[in-house]
Amino acid sequence: MDNKDFNEELNKRAEYCGEVVKRFLPEKEGYASRVCEAMEYSVLAGGKRLRPVLMLETYNLFCREEDSASLEALEHFMAAIEMIHTYSLVHDDLPAMDNDEYRRGKLTTWKRYGEGMGVLAGDGLLNLAFETIAGALNKAYNPLKIELTGRCIRAAGILSEKAGYLGMIGGQCADLEAEGRETPADIDELLYIHEHKTACLIEAALMVGGILGGAGADEIEKLERIGSNVGLAFQIRDDILDVTGNSKELGKNVGSDAANGKATYVSINGLEASDKEVQRLSEEAEKLLETFPGEKGFIRDLIASLILRTK
Ligand code: IPE
Ligand code: IPE
Ligand code: MG
Ligand code: MG
Ligand code: MG
Repeated sequence: MDNKDFNEELNKRAEYCGEVVKRFLPEKEGYASRVCEAMEYSVLAGGKRLRPVLMLETYNLFCREEDSASLEALEHFMAAIEMIHTYSLVHDDLPAMDNDEYRRGKLTTWKRYGEGMGVLAGDGLLNLAFETIAGALNKAYNPLKIELTGRCIRAAGILSEKAGYLGMIGGQCADLEAEGRETPADIDELLYIHEHKTACLIEAALMVGGILGGAGADEIEKLERIGSNVGLAFQIRDDILDVTGNSKELGKNVGSDAANGKATYVSINGLEASDKEVQRLSEEAEKLLETFPGEKGFIRDLIASLILRTK
């Protein structure tokens, strides 16, 4: 696929993911309307929709026939992972965390709605993610669809674990603890931070897509390894862009890591080694991907495109 076709395809998929998540957002009415408005503001501000796109593409890698029941379940999970990701950004930007004022090309949620509403909008999105997953389980809970019911239960378990204290929240915890500390993080601690705060959710995207598409146990384990490589490369690139990026294009301020005294791949190893590591990890992921049968063109191009992404 040439560059133009790839970008068009990617935009199409990202748009579709945006429509899917929008379908599950609450009405803005009654005494809770303000928090619903802040939730909607955060989600509809945009973003690359990378996690649901990866989930969808992995599902398509394994589900070769049209299957409306599993596709419907997938859409619930695609919406849920984007809600979890967005909540993590809303909280990450709070003054108590990274104290950022600009995200996805707009004021951050707390800056627009106040700190209290920023906390609640994040909480609301996290809960809505699991309400949305419960919706998938309710629809699949049918003796005639027992296999799909089982897949949804496994997928729900993986997504909740990868987003929780063993996953993303664990990484955010270590990230905060290392911030501005007298003894800076060493590479082992930094790898823990990056693998957890970022790679875990990307692993979940691939694993959930695989599970709902009917991947077997060995394949799911391989998807986890691909996600780990892609996720680590993605966060190292994020660290690079915080130094070399363009805030307009990124939709968020650059220089945030240095201002907060963050441990990043760049602060430990420098820009050149960081670039090389992004390249190495992405190639590792591509090699693992090649071992799956079937057409992998789009997802391969997607992983490759992340190496030099500028937003
Ligand atoms: C930003 O994620 C936070 C990181 C894990 C680096 P994205 O770069 O995917 O943010 P959006 O969704 O496109 O806004
Ligand atoms: C964020 O890492 C990871 C999560 C939100 C879980 P960063 O703090 O580096 O992300 P940005 O740069 O604010 O998007
Ligand atoms: Mg952060
Ligand atoms: Mg941040
Ligand atoms: Mg960053």
